[in-house]
Amino acid sequence: MENKKTVYITGGSKGIGKGIADYLLNKGYRVAISSRNIKDAEAAAKSFGGNPEDVLALQSDVRKPEDETNAIASIIKKWGQLDVLVANAGLGVFAPIDQMKHEDWNAQIDTNVTGVFNSVKASLDAVKESKGYIFTIASLAGTNFFANGTAYNASKFAVVGFTQALMLDMRPYQVKVSTIMPGSVTSHFNNHTPSEEDAWKIQPEDIGQLVYDMLQMNPRVLPSKVEVRPSNTK
Ligand SMILES: NC(=O)c1ccc[n+]([C@@H]2O[C@H](COP(=O)([O-])OP(=O)(O)OC[C@H]3O[C@@H](n4cnc5c(N)ncnc54)[C@H](OP(=O)(O)O)[C@@H]3O)[C@@H](O)[C@H]2O)c1
Repeated sequence: MENKKTVYITGGSKGIGKGIADYLLNKGYRVAISSRNIKDAEAAAKSFGGNPEDVLALQSDVRKPEDETNAIASIIKKWGQLDVLVANAGLGVFAPIDQMKHEDWNAQIDTNVTGVFNSVKASLDAVKESKGYIFTIASLAGTNFFANGTAYNASKFAVVGFTQALMLDMRPYQVKVSTIMPGSVTSHFNNHTPSEEDAWKIQPEDIGQLVYDMLQMNPRVLPSKVEVRPSNTK
């Protein structure tokens, strides 16, 4: 049987995760995507075309460790291996601190920080076995802070710190770990509806190309933290 590499992308039903999934599928990877809503994940999976045997749509809420454990188990059951995790699922809540609600803070930290931890923990045995690759999708908001960003900045600074420490923990196992820190990318982030006015931004498939290019790098090379921004201004 052909031994294609397998990838799990959390939050692959739209936006950046979907763009990475589509790109890697076209490059011959097997790709599992998840979403809180199985119908959205299945609709995205169908939209890719290609061989349906190379795509797996999963329901998983990254905030729940058992969901992520089940997602990885489904991937191993179907394909026997996991080579790449892209911990991408995330959301953004923006408000001045005096209007930042506890529930919004908790949703932000639970999804963007604890969710990444849950995905990584669930995948550890599999990526050690495959000597694979873990990506997290942080943000330039993980190094540049701004007004209304207390929760989002806190979450993305945390993802950058978490991923750098994870990288050191995983190097002895020959598992590569990188965080990608994008600037503006066209997506549904923060209830945005993509339109022609987003043409100046990075497009989701560009992040797909970046992930693919990083996967092709010589095994001795590890770009552990990658900032990427639109080359044009608005
Ligand atoms: N767009 C940008 O400019 C930009 C820049 C830098 C970094 N980022 C980061 O990129 C990542 C992806 O965002 P995006 O821009 O692609 O946004 P998006 O278009 O809104 O997509 C977000 C994805 O995450 C999923 N998701 C959200 N909460 C989830 C949960 N609890 N469990 C599982 N899946 C969940 C969503 O699916 P469901 O809603 O169906 O669950 C969706 O598939 C985020 O971490 C974001 O912070 C975005």
